[in-house]
Parts: sequence; C-alpha cells; structure tokens
Amino acid sequence: MSGISAPRGTKDILPGEVEKWQYMEDIVRRVCAGYGYREIRTPLFEHTELFQRGIGEATDIVEKEMYTFTDRGGRSITLRPEGTAPVVRAYLEHKLYGSAQPVRLFYLGPMFRYERPQAGRYRQFHQFGVEALGSQDPLMDTETILVALTIFEELGLENLHIELNSMGCPQCRPRYREGLKDYLKGRLDGLCSVCQTRYELNPVRILDCKEDACRKELEGVPEIGDYLCPECRGHFELVQRYLTSLGRSFSLNPRLVRGLDYYTKTVFEVIAPGMGAQNAVAGGGRYDGLAEECGGRETPAVGFAAGMERLLLALESQGKELPLPRELDAFVAVVGDSARTMGLKVAVALRQRGFKAAMETEGRSLRAQLKAADRLLVKHVVIIGEEELGRSAAIIRNMEDGGQQEVPLEQLLEAPERLLLQKISD
Ligand code: HAM
Repeated sequence: MSGISAPRGTKDILPGEVEKWQYMEDIVRRVCAGYGYREIRTPLFEHTELFQRGIGEATDIVEKEMYTFTDRGGRSITLRPEGTAPVVRAYLEHKLYGSAQPVRLFYLGPMFRYERPQAGRYRQFHQFGVEALGSQDPLMDTETILVALTIFEELGLENLHIELNSMGCPQCRPRYREGLKDYLKGRLDGLCSVCQTRYELNPVRILDCKEDACRKELEGVPEIGDYLCPECRGHFELVQRYLTSLGRSFSLNPRLVRGLDYYTKTVFEVIAPGMGAQNAVAGGGRYDGLAEECGGRETPAVGFAAGMERLLLALESQGKELPLPRELDAFVAVVGDSARTMGLKVAVALRQRGFKAAMETEGRSLRAQLKAADRLLVKHVVIIGEEELGRSAAIIRNMEDGGQQEVPLEQLLEAPERLLLQKISD
C-alpha cells in the first residue's frame, strides 16, 4: 500500500522535534510538582455521557466536534476532547474527596476534537493542565493562574497577556442570561444564524462570536460584572487583588465566556499576541458545579489547560529556540574491518558504563561518519581507524568544541568515564 498519510489535523512528532516536547514536558512536571500537584493519567476515551453532561449539550465541542463511536459492546464512547471532566470523574469514582483537600492534580496528553484544521488548531492536539479539587478559596484560582504563568516563563515566552472574567454562579447567572436576552431580543435579525439558535439554548455564547455582524450588535451589551451576586463579586475581587499583590498584570474582558458550559465564577485565558486567530495558549477557570453535574457530591474546583502545539508555535513566533540537549554521549566511528570489531567492543563497554552510545554500521568514509554524528547531536565521536588500531589507540573528538585527543584503547574499554566526562580541550 502506498500513499497513506496521517489523518487530517494530526501530526507525527519526529526525532529532532520530540526533544522540544520532552523539554517542555520536563518543565511542566517540575513546575507542577513545585506547586504540590501530582500527575493523573485518565483513559483516552470515556462514556460519551460524561462530556455531554460535563461540557454541556449546547456547546460546539459536544454538538459537532467529538469523536464519538459505538463500540463492539454497543456503548457510546468518545475520545476525550478535554481533560477536566475525566479528572472530575476519576476524583469521584476513586473517592479522592476522602483524602486531604484540596486535591491538586496535573495531566499531560493528547485530546481529540473534530475541528477545521488550521495553524494552531488540530484534531489531535496535546494539552497539559492542572485541576485543584475541593477548594472554593480564591487563592486557589490565583494559584492555578500562577502555575500556568510560571511554566510559560520557564519556557522563555514573553509578553503573554492574561484576560480575566467572572461567569457568576447559579444564583446570578440566570439573571444575566435574562438581561442579555432582553437586550438581544430586538436585535436577533442582525445576528448570524449560529447565534440565532444560540439565543434560546446558550445566549451567553453569543458574546464570544467572531462574526462582524454579531460584534456590531453587541456594542453596548450588558456586562455580567453588573449582575454578579455579592459572593461572586467578592470572590472575583480577591482573585484580582492576589494577582495584583504579586505584580501580575491582567485585563478584564467582560466578553470572555469560554467554550465549555461548566464554568462558574473565575474564567481566564492566556493570550500570546502575534499568533493570529488561534492565539489562546491556555484557558481555564472555576467549575464548582461540574462534580454534581457528573452525578457526584458538590465539589468546588478550579484549573486550566494549555495547548502544547500552540506553545511551540508561540515560542517560534517569538524567535525562541528551546535548548536541544546533545542526547548521545558517543558515536563510535570505525574505518576498516578490524576497526569494526574493536568499535563493537568499545560501544558495548561504553553502554555498560552507562553512556549512551551508537556505532557506525554502514562502512562510510570518516568524513561521512562525522557528518552523520553531527546530525545525531552527539557529544563525542570515538574514532577507530586502522592506523590508530596499530597503536592500540583511538581518537576522541568533542563535537561541542571540536577538540580532540588520542587515548589508549585499554583505557577506553576499562575506564571510559575518565575520558568522556573530562573536557577534552582541558
Ligand atoms: P480549552 O480552552 O478548550 O479548555 O482548551 C485549552 C487550550 O487547549 C486552548 O487554550 C488551546 O491552547 C488548546 N486547544 C484547544 N483546542 C485545540 C485544538 N483543536 N488544537 C490545538 N490546541 C487546542 C479546556 O480544554 C478546559 N478543559 C480547560 C480547563 C481545565 N478548565 C478548567 N480546567
């Protein structure tokens, strides 16, 4: 079979690129651990109902973006489009509410959404995220925002922009919904067809519409901030005060409503300017009603998720290179038949001593071998040629600074650490 390519909206992450992912993943794990978050791994697929109930029936994700299929046992299964609902499900299923609260969790992995692919938008994409369950304290909202910012800063991203809003709660949001509907009632004809259907089902989502016609109708729309109940208002003010006390700047965006229905109180997005339409590198907020929506006990919670492909694009657009470590300690270059046998012994000895070592197998010229080694990003090349072999020696070349020295083979076989760990040019 020929001509089969990866499905639209998916990407292979090849060696060379994968090191950048590992670098980013290491930072995520280190920063999350530093804030007391522990890793959780949930299945890549769940019962469809979890997302229908959790994310909300009248959202783009549930209406048209889920990879849903019936399995051989007749169950409706969905590839996870996001990580929050699965984490809440796991928290309830394993009674994590019985352990010390709040429970701080983080995850990394692929998510699936049937969206129209474009730069920064894929059908299989990767998120990392954190969820803090069992706390309603506004300090927790602030903490999750800080985790996101710390990770982005460690990656070297600059000029990120935080947008903040409050979605209210079941006490105050219905009043806002009505206020919004009243305002839009006489303007329905001016809205796009999607927003006309949103008007009944999910009018708050109209605020997020990118169509020019809708944007025009929304000038002068009532703001949710004016409808917040005292508790939501107080909570939101504290989140802002804590961020300000740390010198973190943010802007309030009363139109920020997010694409998932589970949010209550704080919502936020982190925007990387200069990235075009898909410029949100992370989004999150509080979801105090989600656990109950999933059939569990009341569990206030807050979290965020970041798109890893988008972070790499943001780094690229800011001209930032992630440091690519030289992965292989040594490449054993061999010239001539007897050198091959000795090279094999040297490579085995190096690996036994814990070095990562690869060896030439193709019988190429030394020049070609050095070029190949450079492309493999190796730290040292051990050169064994007929001449060196005659002297029971080898040459070690440091690929970082080009320095080289001749060393006795015996030493290379018995104590390579002395040769490879010391800087050869010293
Ligand atoms: P979300 O805003 O849908 O939120 O996704 C979070 C991030 O994932 C986005 O800001 C974006 O960077 C990335 N992302 C989303 N869709 C795609 C796509 N098709 N291609 C590439 N990247 C994408 C959530 O998923 C919530 N679960 C976040 C959360 C956690 N809220 C509370 N806790």
